[in-house]
Amino acid sequence: MTERHLLLVNLRRIQREGLESLLAARRLGYRVVLLGRSIPEFAKPLVHEFRQVDTYDRAASIAAARELHATYEFAGVANFTEVDVQLVSAIAADLGLPGMSETAALRARNKYVMKDALRHLDGVLPRFAKVTDLAGLQAAVDEVGLPAVVKPTGASGSKGIFELRRPEDLDAAMERLADIARPDFDPVFKQFGAEFIVEEFLEGDELSVEGFVSGGEVHIVTVTDKITSVPFHLELEHKVPSALPADAWAEISATTKDIVGALEFDNCSFHLEAKWGERGLRFIEIAGRPAGDYIGSHLVPLATGVDYFENVIRVATGEPLRLEHDRQLNAGLRFVLAERAGRFEGADGLTPLGEEAGYDHFFTEVPVGTEVALPPQNFGQQRVIAVIARHATREGLEQLLHRVTTEATARITPAADPAE
Ligand SMILES: Nc1ncnc2c1ncn2[C@@H]1O[C@H](COP(=O)(O)OP(=O)(O)OP(=O)(O)O)[C@@H](O)[C@H]1O
Ligand SMILES: [Mg+2]
Repeated sequence: MTERHLLLVNLRRIQREGLESLLAARRLGYRVVLLGRSIPEFAKPLVHEFRQVDTYDRAASIAAARELHATYEFAGVANFTEVDVQLVSAIAADLGLPGMSETAALRARNKYVMKDALRHLDGVLPRFAKVTDLAGLQAAVDEVGLPAVVKPTGASGSKGIFELRRPEDLDAAMERLADIARPDFDPVFKQFGAEFIVEEFLEGDELSVEGFVSGGEVHIVTVTDKITSVPFHLELEHKVPSALPADAWAEISATTKDIVGALEFDNCSFHLEAKWGERGLRFIEIAGRPAGDYIGSHLVPLATGVDYFENVIRVATGEPLRLEHDRQLNAGLRFVLAERAGRFEGADGLTPLGEEAGYDHFFTEVPVGTEVALPPQNFGQQRVIAVIARHATREGLEQLLHRVTTEATARITPAADPAE
């Protein structure tokens, strides 16, 4: 049998998610060729060839992909990461493989361009404006009103989400954003830099919609309920499926289809974030890649039986999707947080939870021994442990996740005071 090959561009930073993407390719019978900035140790046994390239350099990356394609005749090119959505669309177009259009990929990556393409949708978007400096922000807030949210147009992982509640918050937020929105703080800012979007603050329950578009047809796999932290909006808890009533699901599905269609997403997975409140569905953003926080890799498969990551590869290779649900369970995740800055020494209270049947996984998100800093200094270190649970009922799942918040704690030793 001739071997089939899949080109993957980078891996998700979270090890277990990266591993699951490689295992999904393996289950579907593909050898993986990885194009990326580096290859983590865990990936080496599952990668057939690794080609090192600076994937922020589009021309060099496309040239490398073309050269590899001459050897491997890839069945498809896929990514599971946010920053690679545009590059993968460009590689797919260059190699003649299924992918999103360049226009759709830009709309997926830039929160302003995205909302600009959806202006015609009545009552779904918050009021919004693009800003680059304090004067612009002040003028925009006159239109958008307070409370509002200001955030970078091209970031992800809740890096630099600032709530504006009083006029004096604008100055402080812009000052912090000027420090954050720089490639030396995070390379994601190489793409759109110091460009921000200010939005009306949306009220309601947070949710996400997980799905695929294939050949222009939108498939909704499930809806996830989400809880985020105050005030920096780190994602704390996810539950699949959402407990919202059937009429809410119907509106969420219909509006999701309108949004995906208007943005012209195709041949991709998507992860749409929104709030559900008195005024129905209010749109926050949509990504042209699978959900992180173990939603795609673990929660959706546990709750529904749909192998989400395998379908990410199917959509990238033009194979028919397999989205039948074979079970109706509830799966959820709760993060254990570092409550202060300092050295992360491990967690207390997890061992007794691990003896119970409902807890499936405990993942360490930050290596033990790390000096952790909290937002707004660092947006990626506060969530130190992830706990995944599942239960036949929603109520049972909620009890399991609640116990994580009352029984598990992160052990943090305060950093030595340099003055002492
Ligand atoms: N207009 C808004 N009104 C209310 N809350 C908002 C608004 N915009 C963003 N948020 C909050 O901030 C979170 C992160 O915003 P957004 O999804 O735009 O940024 P992100 O960097 O892509 O984050 P992530 O990668 O974590 O999804 C949202 O999930 C939501 O909790
Ligand atoms: Mg988001």
